[in-house]
Amino acid sequence: MVEALPHRSYPSTRMRRNRREPWIRRLVAENKLSVDDLIWPIFVIDGENTTEQVASMPGVQRFTIDLLVDVVGAAKDLGIPAISLFPQTNPDVKTPDAREAYNPDNLVCKAVRAIKSAHPDIGVMCDVALDPYNSDGHDGIVKDGRILNDDSIVALCKQSVVQAEAGCDILGPSDMMDGRIAAMRDALDSDGFQDTIIMSYAAKYASGFYNPFRDAIGSGGAMKGDKKTYQMNPYNSDEALHEVALDINEGADMVMVKPGLPYLDIVHRVKSTFGVPTYAYHVSGEYAMLQAANLNGWLNYEIVMMETLASFKRAGTDGVLTYCALDAARILRNG
Ligand code: PBG
Repeated sequence: MVEALPHRSYPSTRMRRNRREPWIRRLVAENKLSVDDLIWPIFVIDGENTTEQVASMPGVQRFTIDLLVDVVGAAKDLGIPAISLFPQTNPDVKTPDAREAYNPDNLVCKAVRAIKSAHPDIGVMCDVALDPYNSDGHDGIVKDGRILNDDSIVALCKQSVVQAEAGCDILGPSDMMDGRIAAMRDALDSDGFQDTIIMSYAAKYASGFYNPFRDAIGSGGAMKGDKKTYQMNPYNSDEALHEVALDINEGADMVMVKPGLPYLDIVHRVKSTFGVPTYAYHVSGEYAMLQAANLNGWLNYEIVMMETLASFKRAGTDGVLTYCALDAARILRNG
């Protein structure tokens, strides 16, 4: 970082000299996006040989496991280090206690096993939260209209263990219950999963940018109320540092800020305060905005998408979860 700017002035200084040609622009570039920075979130559905378009996310599909294995192979061939799986659960198996979350044969566990046996060398991440399985649509267990913290943690720990058992490499607790990282670490360690990584959704805001995701996994319809009693207030910034500090102390290996673009100030504060591996989730609504503007001819998707990903690097992330991962990887490969 520039601590003290030297005294420079025009005309002896001309900033445009270093922008004259592509080669000099490359030479002075301060940040670089690489395929190594990308985690691709993918939606999974029951059935065979089927894809479904997510209406509010043009270009994003849900895949049955057989087809999922092929697209993950394509991601691996492009050099993407890891993918993240999100199941759209059949409403018939959703219950108030969300017990399907810790069924070792649930959709996401089957998907993890299929991917790991076909592509052992791509990282697989899974969400830890109850919303895909909960008839109340919330990330935790709901009783009398309240989200129960400690009861939810019991279910989240069981969910963590079945996902680790299925072969998941990174667990991403996105639920924002207090104390869940320590409890998950204990549960994983005592079941022999000392090497399972935890990427905590440490500073996750109660955001309107998640709506397309809730369409994609089918959790939005059931949800009563909002998630403001567990996700953070968008006006807060210091609180994010407390959240991250707690999760690191409890054993998180990596932390995440979510959403991405509207919260780059938080990304920057977290990375410069703690210096731990820090990720941002460029969420569904952010993706939908880029696509919607592109479809109207108002923006060029490829240009604004790459510019958006550049902003994450500038802010200090070590990587980005983005629905644009395949597109970005192709652009990075082909120039
Ligand atoms: C649920 C979860 C959400 C996302 C990831 N995990 C939504 C929510 O909290 O309601 C959002 C991802 C996106 O919008 O792309 N625990």
